[in-house]
Amino acid sequence: MTPPANSTRRVVLRAEDVWKSYDQGAIAVLRGIDFTGYEGETVALCGPSGCGKSTLLHLLGGLDEPDRGRIAVNRKQLNRYSSPLRLLRHEVGFVFQLHNLLPDLTLEENCLIPTVASGLDRKVAMARLHELADRTGLSHRLGSKIQKLSGGERQRTALCRALMNKPRILLADEPTGSLDEATSAMVFDLLLDLVVKEGVTLVMATHDRGLATGCGRTIEMHNGRIHEPL
Ligand SMILES: Nc1ncnc2c1ncn2[C@@H]1O[C@H](COP(=O)(O)OP(=O)(O)OP(=O)(O)O)[C@@H](O)[C@H]1O
Ligand SMILES: [Mg+2]
Repeated sequence: MTPPANSTRRVVLRAEDVWKSYDQGAIAVLRGIDFTGYEGETVALCGPSGCGKSTLLHLLGGLDEPDRGRIAVNRKQLNRYSSPLRLLRHEVGFVFQLHNLLPDLTLEENCLIPTVASGLDRKVAMARLHELADRTGLSHRLGSKIQKLSGGERQRTALCRALMNKPRILLADEPTGSLDEATSAMVFDLLLDLVVKEGVTLVMATHDRGLATGCGRTIEMHNGRIHEPL
């Protein structure tokens, strides 16, 4: 992989020769992934359905472990002994492909959950929630249950939840996947605005080439490896 021109910037994500398969090796998905993410950059992760985008994001976020290879977040090596979840509560936000919000809880309750896990002071958490809700146009929906929200509102809620603890890295898995074109563009613009303003590093899996061009760098996955246009 050719390092981008900004290679003097700080490395915040690093995957080295990462392999991952499912069903005892019957489904080989990642076959030697090398990836470097730099502080503050925005990266689109593209590739056909089933090529392993979600798998890679889960590994980068410490939600699953590789069969082989090394992953480091902010220069800290992830492994089963380093309690990745504790580390990741503070350093990495995750927007899931199916947003994974709790439908019976309100927008506010969903967003506060990660702040309870991270031990953030309640007043600080509420101030952050109001700030994010304001920026994403959700202030009037704070008390609404997720099941009453539209698709776009749910995706924006998932964004807010992922950013509550002010992570330096955001991993977003098809954050606009289930939305119509106009809503998708609106949610993506918001996402980009939030991460750029706060200097957050973004890695976003997407099928949408239009959205990918809005990111600073695009990488392609196929045959279990990453190919980066020169
Ligand atoms: N828990 C699992 N058990 C078995 N196979 C899995 C599991 N998770 C993913 N796979 C398989 O691994 C491959 C990669 O899946 P993954 O979800 O990473 O692809 P993707 O690129 O995110 O696809 P999409 O664009 O459709 O979201 C697929 O063939 C999928 O069926
Ligand atoms: Mg996926």
